[in-house]
Amino acid sequence: MKTAIIGGGPAGLYLAILLKKQWPETDITVYERNRADDTFGFGVVFSDATLDNFEKYDLPSYQRITREFAYWDDIAIHFKGTEHRIGGNGFCGCSRRTLLLILRDRAEELGVTLRYEVDVDDESLFADADLVVIADGINSRFRERNAEHFQPEVDLRPNKFAWMGSTRPLDAFTFIFQDTEWGPFIAHAYQYEAGRSTWVFETDPETFERAGLGQKTEAESAALMEEIFGWFLQGHKVLTNRSIWRNFPMIRNKRWVLGNRVLLGDAKASAHFSIGSGTKLAMEDAIALYEALRKDRTVAGALALYETGRREEVEKTQHAADVSLVWFEHVARFWNFDPVQFAFGVMTRAKAITYDNLRLRAPDFVADVDRTFARQVRERGFDVPVDQPDVPMFQPFRLRDMTIENRVVVSPMDMYSARDGVPGDWHLVHYGARATGGAGLIFTEMTCVSPQARITLGCTGLWNDEQEAAWKRIVEFVHANSATKICLQLGHSGRKGATKLMWEGMDRPLEEGAWDICSASPIPYFPDSQVPREITRADMEKIKAQFVEAAQRGERAGFDMLELHCAHGYLMASFLSPLTNQRSDEYGGTIENRLRFPLEVFDAMREVWPAHKPMSVRISATDWAEGGVTADDSVAIARAFSEHGVDLVDVSTGQTVREARPIYGRMFQTPFSDQIRNEAHVATMCVGNITTADQVNTILAAGRADLVALARPHLVDPFFTMKAAAWYGAKNVHCPPQYLVGKDQIFRNSVRDRQDLEDLKIRGKPKTRAELKLEAAEKPLAAE
Ligand SMILES: Cc1cc2nc3c(=O)[nH]c(=O)nc-3n(C[C@H](O)[C@H](O)[C@H](O)COP(=O)(O)OP(=O)(O)OC[C@H]3O[C@@H](n4cnc5c(N)ncnc54)[C@H](O)[C@@H]3O)c2cc1C
Ligand SMILES: Cc1cc2nc3c(=O)[nH]c(=O)nc-3n(C[C@H](O)[C@H](O)[C@H](O)COP(=O)(O)O)c2cc1C
Repeated sequence: MKTAIIGGGPAGLYLAILLKKQWPETDITVYERNRADDTFGFGVVFSDATLDNFEKYDLPSYQRITREFAYWDDIAIHFKGTEHRIGGNGFCGCSRRTLLLILRDRAEELGVTLRYEVDVDDESLFADADLVVIADGINSRFRERNAEHFQPEVDLRPNKFAWMGSTRPLDAFTFIFQDTEWGPFIAHAYQYEAGRSTWVFETDPETFERAGLGQKTEAESAALMEEIFGWFLQGHKVLTNRSIWRNFPMIRNKRWVLGNRVLLGDAKASAHFSIGSGTKLAMEDAIALYEALRKDRTVAGALALYETGRREEVEKTQHAADVSLVWFEHVARFWNFDPVQFAFGVMTRAKAITYDNLRLRAPDFVADVDRTFARQVRERGFDVPVDQPDVPMFQPFRLRDMTIENRVVVSPMDMYSARDGVPGDWHLVHYGARATGGAGLIFTEMTCVSPQARITLGCTGLWNDEQEAAWKRIVEFVHANSATKICLQLGHSGRKGATKLMWEGMDRPLEEGAWDICSASPIPYFPDSQVPREITRADMEKIKAQFVEAAQRGERAGFDMLELHCAHGYLMASFLSPLTNQRSDEYGGTIENRLRFPLEVFDAMREVWPAHKPMSVRISATDWAEGGVTADDSVAIARAFSEHGVDLVDVSTGQTVREARPIYGRMFQTPFSDQIRNEAHVATMCVGNITTADQVNTILAAGRADLVALARPHLVDPFFTMKAAAWYGAKNVHCPPQYLVGKDQIFRNSVRDRQDLEDLKIRGKPKTRAELKLEAAEKPLAAE
């Protein structure tokens, strides 16, 4: 098989090595436009896991690479005069030049034809090849030439960055967050060989502009970086090598294969430098393509296999890189954080590292995080211990006069089980169980303000005395048997009304017994849904009065808190989103206009709801759809509600329009809560695919939300909070006397179970290469 590879970067060379090693008879040519020893950039970084892969696939190059590498275990975070070090990370770096020379020599040794200084343009050069590999890097000419087919998507990120180097020795992957007169600068730095370190400098576009970097030469830029980071560089120089300031392009391609041509490495998908995975991704692509060719010896079959088999892994890495780069883009948001909390945020920004795994690796650091959190709670008037504090999840929180014992919330969940809007025995048992399970706060399902406001015939309501009495019974049970507080969520279904029960067809229109529905504009949810009537001023007044009456009933029923449901495409949400609100009156158009009706309803409720009791609003922080509500809009929405006296924003997303394309994943809505909390400066509750106490602690400790709600996990585990309390030894969690012996037992057992699991994890964890190297260096030399 004749193979042409365009591009002699890590991806192209490593593929050539793997193919030639397995099939020595194949004719493989690598075309590279640069000279053989000509390379840009400084160091590259690999994790231990990536090196394990290289060891498996080509031992000689692995051995040469690892001989040259600098190893480190720690991540060091410098911020406002503090340094936090977190160990156990297992990384190593080597010079990009050395890496390429090793790969070049190994390829040559195996008999690969390497043609340097050939800038491939003429396609006839590889017209007779059976396989053409497009590994020509981030600005790939051959990808662009076939852009219609590959459908590349280039997302040019706003921040500016430049790869530079230094002679400053470093013993950790080092992040420096530096204040300057122009704004914040960040350095991502690591050593890759003795006396050489890579320094990627990053800043936001406004700071870049203010610092005049656009007008500076490479040398002037380096001089400015030397000045800014001089205190750390300790007289070492900042070096340049084509160190041009650029914007990072996140590259994705819809298709990776065109006939016998295939995209590899940066040409196919890039990963932001903050997770250090560009070269890893490129070389692991080569491994994946090689594996596909081993499995299927036809080019077409193998390429199809490569594309389907590799895509998920690449997308996962890109997603982690996306989350990480966004964190760096918004670093100003966290600038006022306590340095310990800030450092915890840096470590946990991309989801892979969490509270619990940091606790194993860096117990002192996490103890510091816990103390910092507890100190902040104390500053809010709680008499909590600071020296031996409970974990963040079990720290109390206050909204107006309502205090909750811990930060776990049962998210609102419609049970679709009411009769004529009256909550029955099911509801008593459901809410009662979740309250006795220890959550700090539980929300009712969306409780509707009139028969027409119901989503389904099974929804609960609060428009008559019978419903009020039934809710009162539930609230009284919760108060009598737990320390849990209970919040009433009030809503109006709008254009999603008159639909079927969840298990009969979510949001699908009722075939029989439907009532007339209304919305901000007459746009049906599904094309075959009922077309809602555009609500009039008179309707608005009537509906507002219904919300007020329900709030008054809620107060009489004894609820501790009240939420106005403005999310998920129901009536209030239909006003907020420009996709569902196309009104031409003062209730449509600008965001101020779209907010008008929800705020009028909120104000009217706030007026009758006792001043000492808190109110929240639930919003969909994005529509996940073109032209819809964006995260930035949701900050404006949160600010507006906050100005009107909202105490907490309950941050959900989507479910507003059918064309939404949400990006799901663990804790996928948390970034929206983070943005709202830290930009609009209002307390938030986050929710969405949060399933473990570890995640709850991670979110809280990083300051990304004040409360964490879980919905589906609570459906199958009312005692989620009690179990987590036992796990972390948080003794203050309330338990009804009837269950105390169960609490005693689980607390006793959990201490042991946790110790066993942690020991197992520590013992089972292979030593990092840095640890092995240190051990080897410390061993006494064998006697001759
Ligand atoms: C300027 C720069 C500096 C960088 N510095 C670092 C760093 O210090 N550390 C780090 O970890 N990562 C760095 N990166 C990112 C990292 O290099 C990539 O993620 C990784 O190298 C991807 O490997 P690749 O083989 O897919 O692409 P590349 O390494 O980009 O290799 C592509 C190769 O194709 C060649 N080529 C392109 N077009 C043609 C053509 N028409 N004909 C022939 N040859 C062609 C190019 O010369 C290049 O050698 C840097 C990237 C750039 C652009
Ligand atoms: C069965 C069910 C019913 C729900 N009903 C409501 C509701 O009445 N009001 C509401 O605001 N959200 C409702 N939600 C959304 C949840 O509150 C929550 O935002 C969502 O399920 C994501 O959280 P999770 O990943 O923890 O399940 C419901 C979710 C489920 C699973």
